[in-house]
Amino acid sequence: MGEGAGFAKAILFGEHFVVQGTHALGASLSKELRVKIFPAEELSLNIETGPIVLEASRAILSSFSLPENYRIEVDTDIPSGAGLGWSAAYSVALSRAAAAERGFSLGWREIARHAYEGEKVFHGNPSGIDNTLSSQSGVVLFRRDEEPLPVELATPLRVVVADSGRTGSTKELVAGVSLLKDEKPEYFFDLMDREEALVMDAKRALEQGDLPLLGRLMNRNQEYLRRIGVSSPELEALIEVFRDEGALGAKLTGAGGGGCAIGLIESKKDASAILQRIDKNHLVFEAQIG
Ligand code: PMV
Repeated sequence: MGEGAGFAKAILFGEHFVVQGTHALGASLSKELRVKIFPAEELSLNIETGPIVLEASRAILSSFSLPENYRIEVDTDIPSGAGLGWSAAYSVALSRAAAAERGFSLGWREIARHAYEGEKVFHGNPSGIDNTLSSQSGVVLFRRDEEPLPVELATPLRVVVADSGRTGSTKELVAGVSLLKDEKPEYFFDLMDREEALVMDAKRALEQGDLPLLGRLMNRNQEYLRRIGVSSPELEALIEVFRDEGALGAKLTGAGGGGCAIGLIESKKDASAILQRIDKNHLVFEAQIG
C-alpha cells in the first residue's frame, strides 16, 4: 500500500500566458487531495470519474515502472472543474503514493515531474504550473522548462476564492488561446510582453508586501485575460462583487470560462461582506497564502 497527498492551488498571475512562455505566480491552498493505492486485480477508483482519470493514472504508475492493477482510493474536498487544480492534486497525490509503493523518497520537484505525466493526459499541453504548485506549500514563480523558484512573502495574503458555478474545460480554453495567438500574433505577443512585465512587478510587490499594488496588478491581469477571451459573465459578476465590497483587486484564477475568481482582501470585515453577497449554493472560502 502507498499513500500521498497533493494541494489545491490558485494561480495568482499569468495563467494562459504561461502556456505560451511567460512567467506566472501561484500558490498552494490548504485544501488537500489524498490517495491510497492497493494492489488489485485491475485498475479502479472509489469515485465516479471519466476514463481520462484512469488514463492519467496509468501514465503516472507507468512513470514509476509500476503495473496498472491498483485500487485507488481518493479522499478530498477540492471540487473538480473549478480551476482549483483537482487534476494536479490528484496527479501529485498518486505520484507520492506510487513513490511510497516503490520505496522511493523523492523531493517535491521530482514528484511534480512525475505528476506532469498525468497532467499531460488531463490537459493536452499543460505548462506544468499546476502540478508544481500542488506538490509543495507556498508561492512559486514558474516558467516552462525552468526550475520553479519559491518566493518569500513580506506579509501573508488574505484572499477569498469563489466558484462561478460553471465548469470550464482547460483543454479547450488553452486551445482557443493558441488559436488567437496564431490568428492575431501581433496582438497576442504585445499582451504577452505586458503580462511578463506585470508578473515581475507582482513578484516584487509580494516580496515588499505592497498589497495595494498587488491588487491593482490583479485587476490589470484580469483585463488581459478578458482580452484573450477566457473570462465569462459569471466570473465578471463575482469580480464586481469582490471590488464593490472593498477587495484590493480581483481576477479569475486558472483556466477561466467558468471555475473560480480570487480576490485580495485587507481585513476579516471585507471577507465577510463578500461571503455574505455570494450565492450560498456556490463554493466560497477565505484562505491565507504564506
Ligand atoms: O484549469 P486550471 O485551473 O488547472 O488552470 C490551468 C492553468 C492554465 O494556465 C490555463 C494552463 C496551464 O497548463 O498552465
